[in-house]
Amino acid sequence: MDAAIGGEFLLEEGFATVNHGAYGATPRAVLAAQDDWRARMERQPSRFFNGTILPALRSAAEELGGFLGARGVDIGFVGNATEGMNGVLRSLAFAPGDEIVVLAHVYGAVRNTVRHVCSVSGARMVEVPVAFPRPDDGEVLAGLAAALGPRVRLAVLDHITSSSALLLPIVEMVALCHARGVKVLVDGAHAPGQVALDLAALDADWYVGNCHKWLFAPKGCGFLWARGDRQEGIHPAVISHGYGQGFAAEFDWTGTRDPSAWLAVPAALAFHARLGGAGLMARNVALAASAAAGLAARFGTETGAGNRAAGAMATVRLPDGRPADRARAEAVRARLLAMGTDVPVMVHNDRLWLRLSAQAYNDPADFERMGALVTQAVAAV
Ligand SMILES: Cc1ncc(COP(=O)(O)O)c(C=O)c1O
Repeated sequence: MDAAIGGEFLLEEGFATVNHGAYGATPRAVLAAQDDWRARMERQPSRFFNGTILPALRSAAEELGGFLGARGVDIGFVGNATEGMNGVLRSLAFAPGDEIVVLAHVYGAVRNTVRHVCSVSGARMVEVPVAFPRPDDGEVLAGLAAALGPRVRLAVLDHITSSSALLLPIVEMVALCHARGVKVLVDGAHAPGQVALDLAALDADWYVGNCHKWLFAPKGCGFLWARGDRQEGIHPAVISHGYGQGFAAEFDWTGTRDPSAWLAVPAALAFHARLGGAGLMARNVALAASAAAGLAARFGTETGAGNRAAGAMATVRLPDGRPADRARAEAVRARLLAMGTDVPVMVHNDRLWLRLSAQAYNDPADFERMGALVTQAVAAV
């Protein structure tokens, strides 16, 4: 771990933390800002909930909008990306025979939400295959184009996929769907703070993101952005007093809860900027790429993204000749955890793959150490 930057976090010493993408890690400075908000809330709850909270939320949304290339008024805070995706998917009306397109690499919880929406409406989920490893952007776009038949009402597209860590050509994908008259809900759970974003330019219909992954916000901090003309009829997963009073009002109040993670967004943005902002994102992307290449060379295997554009997460095939299944993947991961590191271990095409993440506190030695432990774990399990 980079000693100077590692000290800004609470991360356990001696553990090779190379899995930032899973849950993020919150810096001490941001936790302190969150604590300040909590103290204000608890010192005088009436004043806080009757007066302070709403302008503070709107001001945090404005600052977040500035970072995302969006207007604050088009942003509603949610507890996490899952909640944001639920808000949109469960607000839209689908009829029997309608189709909802998802990518084959869609996040499991989002796939479940689409399955639920289909089961109550009679709509059908259509999956776009994604080749792996080293998918070609043109192939992904062609697969999407082929799925956009006349019954498709919505495309649910990942900006960065979860288990395969693919940075997808989201601009082209959104444009393709719109050219076919299909609305787009983007699952950008991993994108904010990992790659540059300009939501106004992207012009999707809805974009959901997390701030608690790559933007250093405390856990429980996600957002839903909705284009101005796509806000009507979109409700948070929990309906409360703001019902019918406009997009921002509906999301600003979903019952009494601790909003301190949302209110700490300005502190998280300041931390991200202090560590370099765009420079930090570029540094993390480069570190992930070199770490993945180094591991693939060490293992004698391959990387999932190849030379295509990627973010700060990468996948590498494990050095394992045995048949791969979920149970073996879990056994390897459990062994790694006991040995002092953690990486998601997935099955792709009957082979085991790991996903690594490179964040500010990582240095190349973290990935070398993880690689040595992976070799041992695979041999031992
Ligand atoms: C692509 C994608 N979507 C959604 C989520 C859900 O994020 P959260 O658990 O913060 O709701 C994740 C989590 O890793 C993800 O990778």
